[in-house]
Amino acid sequence: MEQRENMKALWINDIHLDFLDDRAQRKFFKNLEDKKADYILIAGDIAQGPSVTSCLMKMDSLLNCPIHFVLGNHDYYHGSITEVRTRIREMVRLSHNLHWLNDMAVTALSKNTVLIGHDGWGDGRFGDFHGSHVKLNDFLLIDELSALSRDKLRQKIQALGDEAADHFRVVLPQALLKANHIVVVIHVPPFEQAAWHEGKPSDSNWLPFFACKAAGDVLKEAMMKHPEKRMTVLCGHTHGSGVAKILPNLITYTGAAHYGRPVIQDIFEWE
Ligand SMILES: [Fe+2]
Repeated sequence: MEQRENMKALWINDIHLDFLDDRAQRKFFKNLEDKKADYILIAGDIAQGPSVTSCLMKMDSLLNCPIHFVLGNHDYYHGSITEVRTRIREMVRLSHNLHWLNDMAVTALSKNTVLIGHDGWGDGRFGDFHGSHVKLNDFLLIDELSALSRDKLRQKIQALGDEAADHFRVVLPQALLKANHIVVVIHVPPFEQAAWHEGKPSDSNWLPFFACKAAGDVLKEAMMKHPEKRMTVLCGHTHGSGVAKILPNLITYTGAAHYGRPVIQDIFEWE
């Protein structure tokens, strides 16, 4: 029997399946299946609130492969964060292969590599929140973020960022104990240098919504304390692609995206 040294992880992000009809969705899933990956990693913005669970279940039914995902802001559109998360938890409970990283501790991908992750959120801490004229659909289409004063909105998005940071504070020590290489999947780039937008890092107008500082601070601190370990961060959200070397042992890949044209971002082989 063939012995494979490495395992293959296929990374996708911002696939926005609600922009595809059923036929196009199935064609995309077939394309994923053809790559024969050991794991599929999804860095959020899979569909929208009403459709995200059905899209994931369809993917699960057509692919015989563990699917580890986080949700993006679009996955809560036309719904509430609480309601979508309740539905996601129920879906995951009934599935063998679907795993929502917010609720997971540490997953061993291979001998030397473990996986952790969280949705993350643009937490208003980088850039110029009060001077920004950006008005995301988040603030109209997600129940918890709509009809808030500017100050209340900032509090809320900071709390969502803090939730990601708190998660990483809990799971990172376990991850560091278990492996030399930690893969982090998060929808929102956790570093300002990784918030690529149209070929360059985001400006102060967009940064409040395109980076999750709270999560990034926790990740960076852990890797500064452990120069003998390395971390690979996979994210999306900004639709711009780029690679940012945050520390000698911490690299972040941000995946490009175009509505209606989902792509495989990369296939990694990790030991
Ligand atoms: Fe997003």
